Amino acid sequence: DWTPEHFVDSMVATLQSTIGEQDQVILGLSGGVDSSVAALLLHRAIGSRLHGIFVNNGLLRKDEYEDVLHSYKDLGLNVRGVDASAEFYAALEGLTDPEQKRKAIGRTFIEVFDQEAQKVQGARWLAQGTIYPDVIESVSVNGPAVTIKSHHNVGGLPEKMNLKIVEPLRALFKDEVREVGAALGLPGHILHRHPFPGPGLGIRILGDITPHKVDLLQRADAIFINGLKEHNLYDHVWQAGVMLLPIQSVGVMGDERTYEQVVALRAVTSVDGMTADWAHLPYEFLAEVSNRIINQVRGINRVVYDISSKPPATIEWE
Ligand code: XMP
Repeated sequence: DWTPEHFVDSMVATLQSTIGEQDQVILGLSGGVDSSVAALLLHRAIGSRLHGIFVNNGLLRKDEYEDVLHSYKDLGLNVRGVDASAEFYAALEGLTDPEQKRKAIGRTFIEVFDQEAQKVQGARWLAQGTIYPDVIESVSVNGPAVTIKSHHNVGGLPEKMNLKIVEPLRALFKDEVREVGAALGLPGHILHRHPFPGPGLGIRILGDITPHKVDLLQRADAIFINGLKEHNLYDHVWQAGVMLLPIQSVGVMGDERTYEQVVALRAVTSVDGMTADWAHLPYEFLAEVSNRIINQVRGINRVVYDISSKPPATIEWE
């Protein structure tokens, strides 16, 4: 019978016999469940010969970079944080097309990650948190099916550095990954985290990206996500976030007329993200979040709720 404990024991043994005793392993950490569980498994197998690299692309949620880096260090992982926000903002400057933004983010990620990876002496392996659904998806992406959105990966690093690939979660479904993570002591706030796209807030700021817009969106998003947690709604929703729209609308504040940004709240229920329904959140909750955002985030004067299902709408707006 499959149990997370058996899986951990046998995968640790496999990793120890596959990875040479002097070999160093590199892993890109994202703060998400999959890469974090892969890290814990490898750490159990080879300790600090696992070198985690966690890149701040300047498009993470509010305080996420610091919080996640702390959690990793608390778990005893050998992780290096790299704050490359400025490089990402520079690469994104003036870009408005969603696919161009994704490509710029993907390219910059590869540059930053390569640079850090090359500092690891004796690196022989590149570990990845690939899970079974990713394996299936990449088959159809490379096959006849059309690529709907480009997902960024590690580029040509394995060839350039002559690294072999190790993917300890390749046979697991998401719920199994979570069970394995729990067995390895991954804290609940990482274990039950909603999915978050690689390009991060970069595809939730419609139009061009500036540090100021990132700041507005991070603050609005934190109000929404913290609200979901406070009201015990977070675990009933598959994914949630805020979109910063490229339009301004008229409002009033005191005697003043305002002309400021609009945000859309997006929350969905889903099993695998392939199809999704908009989450039927209580009106009182939506009212509270809307008031908080408008009162606390200067520069946003209107909040709307996205009531579109997937298909035909997607979860993200870009
Ligand atoms: P859509 O918007 O296509 O999203 O309904 C389905 C799921 O995929 C995530 N997503 C991405 N993840 N890179 C990623 O790593 C991307 O470019 C990307 N685009 C969408 C989205 O957040 C949702 O979980």
